[in-house]
Amino acid sequence: MFKIVQREEMAQGTIVLNEIEAPRIAAKAKPGQFVILQANETGERIPLTMADVDTEKGTITIIYMIVGKSTSLFGSMAVGQEYYAVIGPLGKATHLEKKGKVVCVGGGTGIAVLHPITRGLKEVGNEVITILGSRNKDLLIMEEKMAKVSDTLHICTDDGSQGHHGFVTDVLKDVLEKEDIGLVVAIGPVPMMKFVSMITKEKNVETLVSLNPIMVDGTGMCGGCRVSVGGETKFACVDGPEFDGHNVDYDELSKRLQAYQTEEKISMDACQC
Ligand code: FES
Repeated sequence: MFKIVQREEMAQGTIVLNEIEAPRIAAKAKPGQFVILQANETGERIPLTMADVDTEKGTITIIYMIVGKSTSLFGSMAVGQEYYAVIGPLGKATHLEKKGKVVCVGGGTGIAVLHPITRGLKEVGNEVITILGSRNKDLLIMEEKMAKVSDTLHICTDDGSQGHHGFVTDVLKDVLEKEDIGLVVAIGPVPMMKFVSMITKEKNVETLVSLNPIMVDGTGMCGGCRVSVGGETKFACVDGPEFDGHNVDYDELSKRLQAYQTEEKISMDACQC
């Protein structure tokens, strides 16, 4: 099965890392792809983009924020316990190509998703400028790992407790003024991706975002993950999860992500986890 071989708490226990034995997935996984996990037989299916893969050990790493019943269940599992199911790798891999100078923008647990993509962009010969943001320094994750795969690293915190006092978009505007940037990759909360894309659209800089809508089957059959991109309906699980940031309907995505908030709260309140 899918045994947890490493468990780490980050950001004061609100974010958890699990390294999981999944040799067949690890052998095929590429940057940008995701897995769907179930804690138990009747558990909700949760999509998470892989933060790392170790082909020698046959493991994958996921990093998630504890926000509801299912992620609380995930977070309660100890080293040695097993996930009931891990399905993947799913979705399209990131198209990694040399663009010259690229900017990788990450916020919250989006930084975990951004990590293998940043490493991949560096490996194909790009100069990588990374901008990471969080509410405060205690909630910032993977700073050292991201520094290793970046040429320049900027940190931003909303409260000014580390790095730039303000948003990732402040630093991005500055970088775009000074540098000739061939690609921006932005992964994090929907408002962050929306505002990054608005700025890069003005400058006509190609921008990729990775979307994490509600998913069920992960194979293009249920329609649960549908998003509007350039006026067309796309399924994030098979057409994405990455899309042209300039064409995503972020307001619709936000509404769809909130569609089951009431049910999620009832489920969480009833949970013994
Ligand atoms: Fe069902 Fe994408 S999750 S179509």
